Amino acid sequence: MDYNSKNFFNCNSECYISTGYGYDFYDTCVLNFIKKHLDGNTSEKKLADIGGGSATFSIYARSEIDVLKVIVVDPSEKMLNSIDDDKIEKRIGMLPNSIPLNEKYDYIHVAFVLHHVVGSNEKESKILLNDSLKTINSLTKTNGYLILRERYLESYFMPGLIRKIIFDLCLIQNLFNVKIPYKEFLYGLQVFFYTRSELKTFLEQNGFEILDVVDIKTNSKLNKILLLKNTGSIIFMCKKSSRRQI
Ligand SMILES: C[S@@+](CC[C@H](N)C(=O)[O-])C[C@H]1O[C@@H](n2cnc3c(N)ncnc32)[C@H](O)[C@@H]1O
Repeated sequence: MDYNSKNFFNCNSECYISTGYGYDFYDTCVLNFIKKHLDGNTSEKKLADIGGGSATFSIYARSEIDVLKVIVVDPSEKMLNSIDDDKIEKRIGMLPNSIPLNEKYDYIHVAFVLHHVVGSNEKESKILLNDSLKTINSLTKTNGYLILRERYLESYFMPGLIRKIIFDLCLIQNLFNVKIPYKEFLYGLQVFFYTRSELKTFLEQNGFEILDVVDIKTNSKLNKILLLKNTGSIIFMCKKSSRRQI
């Protein structure tokens, strides 16, 4: 079996398609950020939701902001077919290098996607992250914005320790067909999580200026047992920087 993202999300779409939970507090923060930067401007604005899946956020944003024209790009046909809004355009595509868009966007939204864009080791994954952010920058208008939402894991002592263990466990499960006895470890899953400071550095090095951050920690007793100092999800609301990319 081929364990690439497209197949993984086609085979496991039922675990990822949002079913009636609707939008959450984070979506509302992002919506307010977009509204604030519309600045009373009533001309059409374009938003690309990359890895948008079943488009929970995009459906909410389009229903709340009349001037927003939305396209969702995702490698999984099943995720795209689950989008219940015929005003949203859908396109098959995948980071970092196969995004079939030939115009630039006022807003780009990328939520819980980058930890799925993985290579065969940490170094390759970081190259793919860098290339993905370069692609995203090239699709953002000069005065445009990127909204990046990610889960983060940070271990005690060595911040990247547990994410490396999770990455290796996924590899072992997929290579040897040995099921890791946790429901989160779906067959075919391959993930590489980043720390908050890594995400910040990658964003800044790829031409984004961070304007606002929403960070909600989800620390639990289990985290302490797993030597996880901080976990949670974070939104970086960024502007395309006028400075040259490194
Ligand atoms: C966890 S889901 C998140 C969906 C949506 N953004 C949300 O927040 O509900 C991850 C999505 O990323 C997509 N995806 C996986 N690898 C990708 C890649 N390389 N480029 C773009 N999207 C990808 C998957 O098909 C899936 O729809």
